[in-house]
Amino acid sequence: MAIDLPLLESLLLLFVSMNAVVALAQDNGSFVCNGFQRANLRLGGTAVIHPTGLLQLTNTSKQIIGRAFYPIPLEFNKSSSAEYSRSLSFSTTFVFAMVRGATNVSGHGIAFAFSPSLEFSGAVASQYLGLFNLPTNNGNSSNNQVFAIELDTILSPEFSDIDDNHVGIDVNSPRSIKAAPAAYYWSEEGKNKSLVLVSGDPIQVWIEYDGVKQQLNVTLAPLANPKPDLPLLSTSIDLSSVFVDSMYVGFSSSTGAVASSHYILGWSFSRNGQAQRLELSRLPSLPILRESKAKQRLLKIGLPLMTVAALLIATMGGIYIIRRKKYAEVREDWEQEYGPHRFSYKDLYRATKGFRDKELLGVGGSGRVYRGVLPAASNTQIAVKRITHDSKQGMKGFVAEIASMGRLRHRNLVQLLGYCRRKGELILVYDYMSNGSLDKFLFTNERPNLSWFQRYKIIRDVASGLLYLHEEWEQVVLHRDVKAGNVLLDEDMNGRLGDFGLARLYDHGANPQTTHVVGTLGYLAPELTRTGKATTITDVFAFGALMLEVACGRRPVEMRALPEEMILVDWVTESWKKGAILETRDPRLGDDYVVEEMELVLKLGLLCSHPLPTCRPTMRQILQYLDGVATLPNVSPFDVCSTAVVASASEQRFGHYVVSYPTILIGKTPVQTLSRIDSILIDGR
Ligand SMILES: *[C@@H]1O[C@H](CO)[C@@H](O)[C@H](O)[C@H]1NC(C)=O
Ligand SMILES: *[C@@H]1O[C@H](CO)[C@@H](O)[C@H](O)[C@H]1NC(C)=O
Ligand SMILES: *[C@@H]1O[C@H](CO)[C@@H](O)[C@H](O)[C@H]1NC(C)=O
Ligand SMILES: *[C@@H]1O[C@H](CO)[C@@H](O)[C@H](O)[C@H]1NC(C)=O
Ligand SMILES: *[C@@H]1O[C@H](CO)[C@@H](O)[C@H](O)[C@H]1NC(C)=O
Ligand SMILES: *[C@@H]1O[C@H](CO)[C@@H](O)[C@H](O)[C@H]1NC(C)=O
Ligand SMILES: *[C@@H]1O[C@H](CO)[C@@H](O)[C@H](O)[C@H]1NC(C)=O
Repeated sequence: MAIDLPLLESLLLLFVSMNAVVALAQDNGSFVCNGFQRANLRLGGTAVIHPTGLLQLTNTSKQIIGRAFYPIPLEFNKSSSAEYSRSLSFSTTFVFAMVRGATNVSGHGIAFAFSPSLEFSGAVASQYLGLFNLPTNNGNSSNNQVFAIELDTILSPEFSDIDDNHVGIDVNSPRSIKAAPAAYYWSEEGKNKSLVLVSGDPIQVWIEYDGVKQQLNVTLAPLANPKPDLPLLSTSIDLSSVFVDSMYVGFSSSTGAVASSHYILGWSFSRNGQAQRLELSRLPSLPILRESKAKQRLLKIGLPLMTVAALLIATMGGIYIIRRKKYAEVREDWEQEYGPHRFSYKDLYRATKGFRDKELLGVGGSGRVYRGVLPAASNTQIAVKRITHDSKQGMKGFVAEIASMGRLRHRNLVQLLGYCRRKGELILVYDYMSNGSLDKFLFTNERPNLSWFQRYKIIRDVASGLLYLHEEWEQVVLHRDVKAGNVLLDEDMNGRLGDFGLARLYDHGANPQTTHVVGTLGYLAPELTRTGKATTITDVFAFGALMLEVACGRRPVEMRALPEEMILVDWVTESWKKGAILETRDPRLGDDYVVEEMELVLKLGLLCSHPLPTCRPTMRQILQYLDGVATLPNVSPFDVCSTAVVASASEQRFGHYVVSYPTILIGKTPVQTLSRIDSILIDGR
């Protein structure tokens, strides 16, 4: 025969434990609850009994009340006075715990109470502990026979509380008749030791009343400590004036604006003699307490770690955000097709060492140019041009042009390698030209003087590049801003045109009310300023100005020059008329030049600067003249005439020139007066 021994064992155990826990003996008014599993208690408000036997009166919700009372009232027979006084005596002990919530604040307290009724109508929470109401029967003995020992964790000045951690004796009112800060007498040292009610640790309370001597003792001690020899509170009180014939006994607890969880772990009560001892080892544990202790321990160890981790994460996050912002680009779907021409901002940022001033090659009207090195592409040197550009409109078309310009290949063009877009900014990447721009050679003393041979070759190089743009590629590309500043010199001093098509960027998004003519003063064909329409012939006009610059070593408009020399075209024309065209050459050349070539360049320059577009040669013709394949038609200085560009320095404002064309001379006859144009964008001045 097989007996399931473990099952039998557990059944037996269950029986024994049930018996022990529910040791409530109503007959002699005594009971003991080491935990409340099967306890016969009247629960009110938020009070619950956990399966472990733990009685929870409140949780950490605010303004709540939890009550647990013994359901059978204690009877007091007032008929026999001798017996009556003795019958008022009682002895009780219980273990409570108050556990702070996550916010580490606590409130309000627990009261061990006697009440004539379990109704508590109108009783309120917080400092009234769910026992008293306000204001009518607060302290009104005629209808409020309440006696309580309060364990109060809030200082309520209206009740003259002594502190926020006290034990008080309350009769009909939350205003204690006697109170003391929570403490216990430690006989070994002969002194009081303070206790923190809301420490979360279980605390045992003993309350004894001798009805004959009318003496009440209240004693506290941490759990597992023996009952101290001396009570915390000892007072004389006549409970016969408070108690009615039948009184309920139990606990009331409340939270207020701040809250903590209030627990009762065990309770023993006796009307006759000493209450039975609680069996501390059998009391339920505080799950939340353990958790919070573990949490506290975790916090102690974990908090510094977490702080460090949080700091680390924050720092890394910050770095990430900064990096993201630093390297942020604008990419749109339509750019997919230009993929190969697209550079990442990060690469460019690194290539230029963070766009350091030390890497700055030059500042032009259209943007700043930096030198850079692409380590990934075997240390290829690049020039990176940053252009401020806020217009979204037209960007697509422009990028399309950029991308197609990336396909332009000519030894006299600065190769465009690609681009990058950021918010409000366009970045163009070019081949690096080690000798910089032509204007530095012509107009400053930073660079060595160019020989006539070099000058003539550069003119020819630029003409060749322009011809490629105008005629030799699959579509016509206008440069729009031919000038010395945009002619770059590679290591072999070959002239290369840069920045082609860039001026077109400013066509987009411009205020349609004003006519923005793009280009550079002195290089602008009159019809361009009138119509705003760039053509190959307007490029030729600018190229003419460039030729004169190279030959004469000065800018097309020189404000500091003598009045008759201010406008280069006029000065060369006038000098030609006087038969002294060669006098206009760059004095730095001395006699070290080829007369025929110099004359050709000056005269061709004037021809290209002809106010009538149809009079100007094409780039192909220009190249033929320069190469000596064709001879310049026999033009007279009276056929080419000045464009009469007048730009007054006083009218210069914010990088814009206001120019007016009072008259245009065709031959010698003034034929028309052009309307004033609003503004011209000036680059490189
Ligand atoms: C009351 O009764 C219980 C059981 O009925 C007993 O254990 C206890 O000792 C009694 N207490 C007193 C003070 O007689
Ligand atoms: C407290 O108990 C009440 C009722 O038992 C419940 O509604 C509330 O959510 C509890 N609050 C907390 C913080 O657990
Ligand atoms: C109260 O005591 C008197 C006198 O001893 C007795 O006659 C009466 O029955 C008692 N009442 C109760 C409710 O026990
Ligand atoms: C909670 O507050 C008490 C005093 O108000 C303090 O002693 C304790 O260290 C605090 N606990 C935590 C975890 O902050
Ligand atoms: C006490 O309560 C009674 C009944 O509600 C009332 O008549 C009396 O005025 C109250 N006394 C005080 C002092 O509030
Ligand atoms: C301990 O505290 C009680 C109550 O506050 C007080 O009456 C008593 O004198 C104190 N004893 C010592 C030794 O401080
Ligand atoms: C109260 O405490 C005092 C001092 O320890 C003691 O003499 C007295 O008997 C106690 N009274 C009761 C009712 O326990």
